[in-house]
Amino acid sequence: MATIHSRITGTGSYLPGKPVTNPELIAAHNLESSDEWIVERTGIRARHLAPTGVAASDLAFEACKRALEAAGRPAGDVDLIIVATSTPDYVFPSTAALLQAKLGIGNGGVAFDLQAVCSGFVYALAVADKFIRSGSHKCALVIGAEVFSRILDWKDRGTCVLFGDGAGAVVLEASKTPGILATALHADGSHHGILSVPGQVCGGKVIGDPFLRMDGQAVFKFAVKVLADVAREVLDAANMTADQLDWLIPHQANVRILQSTAKKLHVPAEKCVVTVDHHGNTSAASIPLALDEVVRSGKVGAGDTVLLEGVGGGFTWGAALLKL
Ligand code: UT7
Repeated sequence: MATIHSRITGTGSYLPGKPVTNPELIAAHNLESSDEWIVERTGIRARHLAPTGVAASDLAFEACKRALEAAGRPAGDVDLIIVATSTPDYVFPSTAALLQAKLGIGNGGVAFDLQAVCSGFVYALAVADKFIRSGSHKCALVIGAEVFSRILDWKDRGTCVLFGDGAGAVVLEASKTPGILATALHADGSHHGILSVPGQVCGGKVIGDPFLRMDGQAVFKFAVKVLADVAREVLDAANMTADQLDWLIPHQANVRILQSTAKKLHVPAEKCVVTVDHHGNTSAASIPLALDEVVRSGKVGAGDTVLLEGVGGGFTWGAALLKL
């Protein structure tokens, strides 16, 4: 029997509203901060914020419409939906189930959410790849969708300036030719305390803290180490070296993390995709948002070898090496 591979056949993304610049954000929330500090420490100049009432499934729906159009697939062909999100519409049902209904697919196969924070999209892509290569499913929508603005403490200048809202999606299909070449996923829960939203809904009340809390420097050091390690791991698994990469698309958290990762891997800065400057950190959405932006601009396209990699709360981290 011929080997089944999985391949990305379309990308799409969606950003809500107009970009909110650093000076606009600082003024809106009366923050003791400056455009200079934010740009120098993070590279972020603007982010998008979803208006009240717009949920992760709404952003995901817009991104999926574009990805399906790019793939030339009707929604009815989709038999697997995985939404990576840490900011779901509800406790349940899953954002993926709500999205399936918005796409008008009744009885449309498997739909579930995946929670791996900023590594969520890479986790979801690896899981979808395994579903497709097993032969059980043929056409997946893999989505990262976040409304992180809902879990930010606007009095905490160390975190609220970093994040944004948005969604990115890919259509991943069964293929005779290899698309996803290798994936690697990791988690180490002993680091759960350095990045978390340590709250829960219980008895009709929020118990604990419902806002994102982060030890920025600890996260920074961890991210730079594991992003280089996991990139080497997937390259080794595919018998490839970093100089064979056309593009590196890391999770967009901080431009200094992106630069350090590229440097450690000896990947030239111009091959490292940077969107954090105008998206901010959109957690699980950041990688598919960046991928769609460079695909639509014509910079990245068919035949290119691309390495996607993410790191986030948990701690979780992972990478996917692929040919477009
Ligand atoms: O998606 C994965 C999750 N996130 C990340 O990957 C983020 C990783 N970490 C980072 O990107 C950086 O650690 C930050 C951007 C969060 C912080 O940069 P830093 O260079 O590590 O700064 P710091 O936390 O050491 O803070 C330096 C100073 C502090 O003041 P003092 O104690 O030196 O007086 C902070 O209070 O900067 C202050 N500060 C700010 N000042 C102006 C923190 N936030 C701000 C702010 N504006 N927004």
